[in-house]
Amino acid sequence: MRKISSISSLLFLLAFTLFFASNSFAQDAKAGEKIYKANCTACHAWDKKLTGPALQGVTDRVQAGAYGDVDGWLKAWIKDNAKVRASGDAYGNQVYNANAQGAMTAFGFLSDAQLADLVAFLYVGPSKPAVDPNAAAAVATEVVEDSDSDLWMILIVIGIATLIIVIFSGVNRSMKNAANKKEGLPLEDGKSFWEATGNWIQSHKKLSSIIGFFLVLVLAKIGWDALLGIGVYQDYQPKQPIAFPHDLHAGKNEIDCKYCHSSARTSKTSGIPSANVCMNCHKAVTEGSRSGKTEIQKLYDYIGWNPDSMKYMTADGKMRNDTVIEWVKVHNLPDFVYFNHSQHVEVGKVACQKCHGEVEKMQEVKQFSELTMGWCVNCHRETEVNFAGNDYYIKIHEDAKKEFKHKKDFKFTVDKIGGLECAKCHY
Ligand code: HEC
Ligand code: HEC
Ligand code: HEC
Ligand code: HEC
Ligand code: HEC
Ligand code: HEC
Repeated sequence: MRKISSISSLLFLLAFTLFFASNSFAQDAKAGEKIYKANCTACHAWDKKLTGPALQGVTDRVQAGAYGDVDGWLKAWIKDNAKVRASGDAYGNQVYNANAQGAMTAFGFLSDAQLADLVAFLYVGPSKPAVDPNAAAAVATEVVEDSDSDLWMILIVIGIATLIIVIFSGVNRSMKNAANKKEGLPLEDGKSFWEATGNWIQSHKKLSSIIGFFLVLVLAKIGWDALLGIGVYQDYQPKQPIAFPHDLHAGKNEIDCKYCHSSARTSKTSGIPSANVCMNCHKAVTEGSRSGKTEIQKLYDYIGWNPDSMKYMTADGKMRNDTVIEWVKVHNLPDFVYFNHSQHVEVGKVACQKCHGEVEKMQEVKQFSELTMGWCVNCHRETEVNFAGNDYYIKIHEDAKKEFKHKKDFKFTVDKIGGLECAKCHY
């Protein structure tokens, strides 16, 4: 018995180690991809040049120089590329000059583990090709972590563990019973599953604590991954009750965003215009260049407008002016996050497009940004507070200039007015 159980604990250890080694390698690149999307895609694409070079093949072209190996160079570069360049690194300066000295941001806040994940990602690249934002046929894609494979792994592990427990307790019992028979003692009955498990754990304390320990680890990891993946829905583009085209309204007809989303100026939310706002124009405009009368007719059906009699009256002759068009919400921050439009649009003078992309070119809006914490925080680190015409900040700015005047290129970014404080964004 002793021998069997020590062999089985060895096997267990081996299986768990293998499982973890392979799993954590795959997860590294996946975790890295998330960090990449949250921090790097503003300037980098995988296969084309944006502000920064395409990152495809970067692990092949980097020359490590004094940093020993490619990984070491990449980590140092991402952490603080200016430092790498200042150290006289030949490759770093070469890329810098090749990109018209457009400086990359420093990512000193990434931990060593996150850097390792990022580098693992740079070796393998994105898990699926990016969706072209202008493709009219772009389907709704949800970038959600897929932890199914992990769940399966757990189930299998639990299954195997149970099987072994049951088999061993069975073997144990029949061996005992064989001995009892010989000595004429009463035979033991088959025990309930839980009893058997309990007994087994009692008699295999070491092995069961090892199993317990690994199960806790696996569960913790899955929980953590699930947490990080919650609510990341970049490119989300749900089907709307009326195919409302932003490109024709805000683009071709140059209607100001705030004409329809007027509350962006004054309140936390931007709001969606009510059907009455649509009717300011659509009493007269009964036809669109793309869908003819069909989509605008849906608007009339909602609000009960009869374009022939020019009255709010449905086909059955009833007055109806109370129906709400049930637009499907595209953007959805979790409830524990506080985001305020007017703070950004009015006070901060941030353009809608910075966060929502070129909505005026989209036939149907989709979620352009990640809306992750990394996304918010990064922008707060990079964006300078807009002082022009902002009396509120003039005094703060004067004070700051005094305090930091020894720093030559001091930048008064949002993080310096508390834009990184947890409580500013979390209730
Ligand atoms: C603000 C824009 C910007 C951001 C954000 C940015 N980069 Fe860069 N990156 C650049 C530019 C520009 C270069 C070219 C070198 C230079 O001019 O500094 C570059 C160069 C690089 C290089 C070397 C490329 C080569 O061809 O050898 C790597 C690797 C890199 N970036 C990785 C990253 C990673 C990873 C992130 C996210 C953590 C990131 N960058 C975020 C702008 C950016
Ligand atoms: C003529 C009115 C109108 C104009 C002008 C307009 N929008 Fe919209 N917008 C809507 C309507 C209606 C919806 C809801 C339907 C949808 O999501 O397509 C919407 C939805 C949105 C959404 C998604 C909201 C969500 O559910 O999360 C964003 C973002 C947005 N608009 C941004 C803009 C920006 C930026 C501009 C200016 C470039 C603009 N809109 C101009 C009417 C308008
Ligand atoms: C700093 C980034 C940022 C800017 C600038 C910005 N938005 Fe938003 N917008 C967001 C975020 C984040 C959400 C999701 C809010 C939520 O779910 O609570 C959102 C949601 C929306 C919605 C959905 C309804 C709502 O209020 O939740 C509309 C419509 C919208 N924005 C329109 C606009 C328009 C129009 C402008 C420019 C006048 C604009 N936004 C500027 C980040 C921004
Ligand atoms: C300021 C005027 C104005 C407002 C407000 C307005 N529209 Fe329009 N809308 C137009 C014009 C002009 C067209 C024709 C655009 C074209 O085809 O070039 C149009 C076209 C359309 C179309 C047909 C587009 C196609 O597929 O051909 C739909 C659907 C539509 N609007 C829905 C709405 C809805 C819903 C609202 C309210 C949320 C709204 N509009 C608010 C001016 C407006
Ligand atoms: C495009 C850049 C950008 C993005 C993205 C962004 N912000 Fe901001 N944020 C700003 C700017 C600029 C200000 C400063 C406005 C001002 O002058 O008060 C600001 C200010 C704030 C403030 C007030 C800070 C203070 O100390 O007064 C909060 C809270 C805030 N943002 C939350 C968020 C949240 C939550 C998100 C993500 C959902 C986000 N922001 C995304 C640019 C951004
Ligand atoms: C500028 C705004 C901002 C600041 C500052 C901020 N957060 Fe967040 N945080 C967010 C947003 C937005 C999300 C939602 C991310 C998502 O849905 O993916 C979030 C999510 C989280 C989550 C859930 C886990 C996750 O990643 O989804 C935790 C935990 C959290 N924040 C803790 C903190 C702590 C602790 C601080 C202070 C050190 C902090 N946050 C500061 C905007 C902010």
